[in-house]
Amino acid sequence: MDHSPTLSLADRLERPISAITAYDYPMARLCDEAGIQMILVGDSLGMVVAGHPDTTSVTLEQIIYHTEMVSRGAKHAVIVADLPIHTYDDPEMALQSSRQLIAAGADAVKLEGGLGQIEKVKKLRASGIEVCGHLGMLPQRVKEEGGYKKKGKTGAEVDGMVEAAKALEEAGVFAIVLESMLPSAAEAITAAVQVPTIGIGAGGQCDGEIRVLHDVIGSSPWFVPPFATVHGNVAEVTVDALAKYLEEIQSTR
Ligand code: KIV
Repeated sequence: MDHSPTLSLADRLERPISAITAYDYPMARLCDEAGIQMILVGDSLGMVVAGHPDTTSVTLEQIIYHTEMVSRGAKHAVIVADLPIHTYDDPEMALQSSRQLIAAGADAVKLEGGLGQIEKVKKLRASGIEVCGHLGMLPQRVKEEGGYKKKGKTGAEVDGMVEAAKALEEAGVFAIVLESMLPSAAEAITAAVQVPTIGIGAGGQCDGEIRVLHDVIGSSPWFVPPFATVHGNVAEVTVDALAKYLEEIQSTR
């Protein structure tokens, strides 16, 4: 793949798009060197890094701080930074928040939601800021919805998401994350738009896949989402290394 920064984001992301979250320099560098195409500085950091029960306490300052770390580590991957809850309540707020994320090193920002976000996406695009959409289960709405509920179980819900996806595309997003929905719903949305869809817990018919890094490498064994596939055992390797370090202290004193 040609990673030249002069290429548009769409040209830097080839189907099937490989995307993952990362929140700091070493992990971003490892993801980048492994050839991952897109790194999301996700507000999931509130859960997997900070230990909160959900993403609703994450602040813009935190995403800025982590985006700076990631941008020092990733030289080729497209870096997308999440707009945290209540940092894009209206178009002007979305613009001011996004400018800070771009200044921190992001190539693009991501916001959650459909038709209610169209004016914000248009404002960002008019200012030259690249935007990724996010439909389906929206973690920032976990409190209103009373939990994490899979989407796309009714025809009306699928139609609503297809309409939202088309409107996001029309407004200028370069990609849309589809989170936790029936595979048939993700397939319908993917067929309805030209921009790539990037799934997580949405079946195998999207144009790419995104996962939370900690799930993939096995560094957070206390909770593994049902759709996650664990490909590493970082928790075990870490505990093993620490046991050896403890032995070293004992044996050298
Ligand atoms: O914050 C995040 O990690 C995300 C992904 C789950 C898509 O939004």
